[in-house]
Amino acid sequence: MIVLGIETSCDETAAAVVNCSTRQILSNVILTQAEHIDYGGVVPEIASRAHYEALAPIAQQALSESGKSLQEIDLIAATTGPGLVGALLVGSSYGKSLALGAHKPFAAVHHLEGHALSPHLTEGIDLPYLLLLVSGGHCQFVMVHGIGHYEELGATRDDAIGECFDKVAKLLDLPYPGGPHVEKTAQTGDPNAIAFPRPLDDKSLDFSFAGLKTAVRNHVVKNPPQNEQDIANVCASFQHTVATLLSRKVANALAQTGVKNFVIAGGVAANQAIRHALQQTCNQHGVTFAAPALKLCTDNAAMIAYAAGMRALNDQPNGDITTAIRPRWPLQEQR
Ligand code: KG4
Ligand code: ZN
Repeated sequence: MIVLGIETSCDETAAAVVNCSTRQILSNVILTQAEHIDYGGVVPEIASRAHYEALAPIAQQALSESGKSLQEIDLIAATTGPGLVGALLVGSSYGKSLALGAHKPFAAVHHLEGHALSPHLTEGIDLPYLLLLVSGGHCQFVMVHGIGHYEELGATRDDAIGECFDKVAKLLDLPYPGGPHVEKTAQTGDPNAIAFPRPLDDKSLDFSFAGLKTAVRNHVVKNPPQNEQDIANVCASFQHTVATLLSRKVANALAQTGVKNFVIAGGVAANQAIRHALQQTCNQHGVTFAAPALKLCTDNAAMIAYAAGMRALNDQPNGDITTAIRPRWPLQEQR
C-alpha cells in the first residue's frame, strides 16, 4: 500500500510518499510558509495563496525523491479537515484532480488522525495506546483503541497549548511560530524563577490554559523584562509550569485508564522538556512512552499518507472524492 499524502491544513505545504505495509517513509517534503512571520501568526488568505503556488512542485518533488512514479502509487490522500477553509480547499482539490487524472482512488484524511497515528508509523508502538495530542489548535487525550477507533477522554476548555506557547513568544517579542523559540530561550533560564499558576490542576482530564496565558501577560506587564536573562526566566518558568501540568494530567490519565502504552503527538510534542517530563511520568507508572521523530511532530504529509493507508489496510473506509472539506471536525466523528 503505497500512498501519496498531501497536507495543507494550516501553514505547512507538505507532500510525502509512504509505504504503509512496511511503515517506510519514502519521501517527506515540508515547506513551512515564511510569509506569516511579519504578522506574528497565520494569515488564512496568505496561507491559501502560498499553498497554491508551492503545492504542485512539492508533490512532484515528493514523488521523485520516493523513486516511485505516479502510476506506482496505490492511493492519493489529502487532509480535508480540520483546518483553514481555503488552505484545505487547495490541498484537497489538488489531490482529487491528481487522483482523477491518474485514475487512482482518493482518500479524505482527518488531520488529527494523522497526528494520532504518527508514533505508530515512526516508533512502531503497539495499539491500543493513550494519546496526548498537543498542537497549535488542540490539546486533548484520545484513547486510540485501534485504527479508526478513537475516544476522546478530555480536552482543553479554552486555548490550545501551542497557541499558548505562541502567545507567550509574542509577548516577549520572540519570532513566530513561538514554540521552538520559547524552548530555545528557556535553556538559559531558571524554571523556578516565577511561580505561574497551574489552571485546572485536578483529577479531571480536561485542560485550561487561558489563565496561565493571562498570568504570563500580567507578569510581563508588571515586570517588563530588563535583559535577556529576564526573558529566559519567563520562558523557562512558563515551560516548566506547562510540563508539570501535563505530567500531572498524564499521571491521572494513566491511573484512570490502566493503559500500558502512551504516546505524545502534535507540534508541541517536539518540546524536549515536555517529552522528558512525560517520559519520567510513564517510567514511574511502568508504561511504555513513545513520541514521533521531531520532523513528524509538526505538520507533515507522511502522517496523512499513513492514516489513509492504514484505514484502507484495516477495512476502515476513507472519505472519497465526493467528501467535502470540514474546517471543524471532531476526531471521533469519522465519516
Ligand atoms: O501540529 P502543528 O505543526 O500544527 C497544528 O496542527 O496546530 O503544531 C504547531 C504548534 C505551534 O503552536 C508551535 O509553536 C508548536 O506547535 N511547537 C512547539 C514546539 N515546536 C512547535 N511548542 C513548544 N515547543 C516546541 N519545540
Ligand atoms: Zn497539526
